[in-house]
Amino acid sequence: MLVSEIPALRDFWYPVAYAAGVTTTPVACRVLSTDVVVWRASDNGPALAALDQCPHRAARLSQGWVDAGCLVCPYHGWNFDDAGACVAIPAQGPDAAIPPTAQLTGVEVAERYGLVWVCVGDPCEQIPVLDEAEPDSGYTLIHELMDMWPASAPRVMDNALDVSHIPWVHRNTVGTPDHPGVSPFTVERDGLRLRFTLSYTAAMSEQQKVNTGITTDTAERITHVELVSPFVYRGVLEYPANGLRHVLFKTATPVDDHTTLFCQFIARNDNPPPDRWEAIASVDRSVQAEDKALLSNVPSQFPLDITSEVHVAADRMTVEYRRVLAELATR
Ligand code: FES
Ligand SMILES: [Fe+2]
Repeated sequence: MLVSEIPALRDFWYPVAYAAGVTTTPVACRVLSTDVVVWRASDNGPALAALDQCPHRAARLSQGWVDAGCLVCPYHGWNFDDAGACVAIPAQGPDAAIPPTAQLTGVEVAERYGLVWVCVGDPCEQIPVLDEAEPDSGYTLIHELMDMWPASAPRVMDNALDVSHIPWVHRNTVGTPDHPGVSPFTVERDGLRLRFTLSYTAAMSEQQKVNTGITTDTAERITHVELVSPFVYRGVLEYPANGLRHVLFKTATPVDDHTTLFCQFIARNDNPPPDRWEAIASVDRSVQAEDKALLSNVPSQFPLDITSEVHVAADRMTVEYRRVLAELATR
């Protein structure tokens, strides 16, 4: 399966940019092979989005600019207001009638968790509610990375849901091949959502000791893994030793069949001061760089037929993920 073969995926929300990165300078983004322009009509205005193609002669509006609250096409200078209506055609002069079809094709857009999200279809659900990332949660939200990966979005999310790769892919950071075993766990399914909980003894590197405030060489760690929507992951790393909850959010925006915009942010209940954020984020970034390097060489094709791959008990979650995508494929 390639993402283009599941039309229902167009009806979900995906992050495309940091909210702070969307300004009155238009930005090009791409979701499920659809080119979208995102911009603000004014510095403090809401993010706006439309298909990145001018209705006149198909120029990329993301190469244009904003003037007096209007998006200006770089080809013949047509002006589009914040509702997408053309309000000026310079070649016609100020008094000429504007064809009613001179209209941008709007794209659903919203801002949440410091991100601009778009939906290139008809939304089948709201932007996922991520409790710990909400402003009034009592947790500190820290953005860690947004990066283009040469891997398909199902492969990226499959990797996030897969626990048995950690001792191997992350042997130089947070994993150790000395403890490769995965205890039995049960996957709960609720509609398209999946979750399971696993407890294990984690090796604590020197950097992890600093980041967690736990001084022992190993620590009990409870991990709650959740598929929130087809390409949104929430993972809670809970340390009973001191009550720390390090909540990881990973989103995999399907750019096209072979490319994914990966975004990761965390929420912490120990409210680390800003001067500690970089050290905390750098460990997570190193871990993600290891996943990116591995996934860059895994085929984009993602089998949904359970019989076409080999599975073991540790793969229960990723087997269930294939069933979720298979169900979406029939919508
Ligand atoms: S192509 Fe946009 S104004 Fe002509
Ligand atoms: Fe990983």
